[in-house]
Amino acid sequence: MTDDLHFYEPGHGHGLPHDPFNAIVGPRPIGWIASRSSAGVLNLAPYSFFNAFNYTPPLVGFSSIGRKDTLRNIEQTGEFVWNLATRPLAEAMNASCVAAPPEVDEFALAGLTPAASRVVSVPRVAQSPVSFECRSTQIIELQGLDGNGVGSWLVLGEVVGVHIARHLLKDGVYDTAAAAPILRAGGPADYFEITADRLFKMRRPAWP
Ligand SMILES: Cc1cc2nc3c(=O)[nH]c(=O)nc-3n(C[C@H](O)[C@H](O)[C@H](O)COP(=O)(O)O)c2cc1C
Repeated sequence: MTDDLHFYEPGHGHGLPHDPFNAIVGPRPIGWIASRSSAGVLNLAPYSFFNAFNYTPPLVGFSSIGRKDTLRNIEQTGEFVWNLATRPLAEAMNASCVAAPPEVDEFALAGLTPAASRVVSVPRVAQSPVSFECRSTQIIELQGLDGNGVGSWLVLGEVVGVHIARHLLKDGVYDTAAAAPILRAGGPADYFEITADRLFKMRRPAWP
């Protein structure tokens, strides 16, 4: 232990006013996930334990901390739609995270419009400029070092349909910053917005 490093073993507590884990692993892209129950109720919720994991086929995944409606719906139907959360949609995204009972449709709650998907039966968020239609490939309960399940589930899915608002394609190239995506940082309320002025470029080095 040195004076200029705070060290802790998470199993024994962090010793800080707030757990820094989420603030360190951040900002994280948001999986704004639409799903539908087998009874037909639409669902929409944000998941920031989210990322992409493969190019071909394109695979995305998110982690449900506990058994939530989104997880149950995907277990039942095998389908979901990821929607890009942008700065203009931030407040609607936040509204969709409310812990509503399964019979509540968060599209309606957040004032969003479901638009029919092309490949799957779950609709996308019409207001979002980018959506991925997905079919679930694996649902894995996460384990700790002791091999016991931790009560969180990693939901992985293959992207089977991609919708991109044409204005985000500049000469055919997707313009990340033009969509003004938002990312989740730490604490109860921190987010970052991606803006073009923060862009820098760096190519991979060749060997030798
Ligand atoms: C920005 C943001 C990110 C979130 N990330 C997660 C996450 O990664 N995993 C999780 O279980 N809940 C996460 N939540 C909380 C869920 O959105 C919340 O529990 C929601 O009610 C779940 O909805 P559902 O039961 O309809 O699936 C997040 C909330 C917000 C606002």
